[in-house]
Amino acid sequence: MSQRTFSIIKPDAVRKGHSGAILAEIEKAGFRLVAIKKLSISKAQAEGFYYVHKERSFFGSLTDFMSSGPIFVMVLEKDNAIADLRKLMGATNPANAEEGTICKKFAGSIEENAIHGSDAEDTARFEIGYFFAGYELV
Ligand code: CMP
Repeated sequence: MSQRTFSIIKPDAVRKGHSGAILAEIEKAGFRLVAIKKLSISKAQAEGFYYVHKERSFFGSLTDFMSSGPIFVMVLEKDNAIADLRKLMGATNPANAEEGTICKKFAGSIEENAIHGSDAEDTARFEIGYFFAGYELV
């Protein structure tokens, strides 16, 4: 069944000029771009987005990194979008990511890992709503 997920091209990938290549991989894999925008978020906005990780040791550094430069936020749609995007991304840590995945190709470290994708339906709903109004989803 058609499903929507949320994704971010992170500051490391945007800085290195990999945004277009990552978008091409996403479209090649059959995702429809429902919405996309380029943003610079504040530390407070990054903290709100990642609040589920607020007790983790890496929360401060993760939110510094995510507010360190422009990102692309996007909503993607296809059958089984959430699981399929996670598969296309590969493991969070590029050291463990499978050949051919976005993390393997573009990520530098577990934190500066090029791309984010929602991990479940409820998180996708929260994450889409955090960055997009309903009228922006077309
Ligand atoms: P993301 O999928 O955006 O969700 C949480 C992010 O925290 C994750 O990608 C990584 O960028 C980061 N992260 C997860 N685990 C660690 C870790 N052990 N050390 C540093 N950053 C991490």
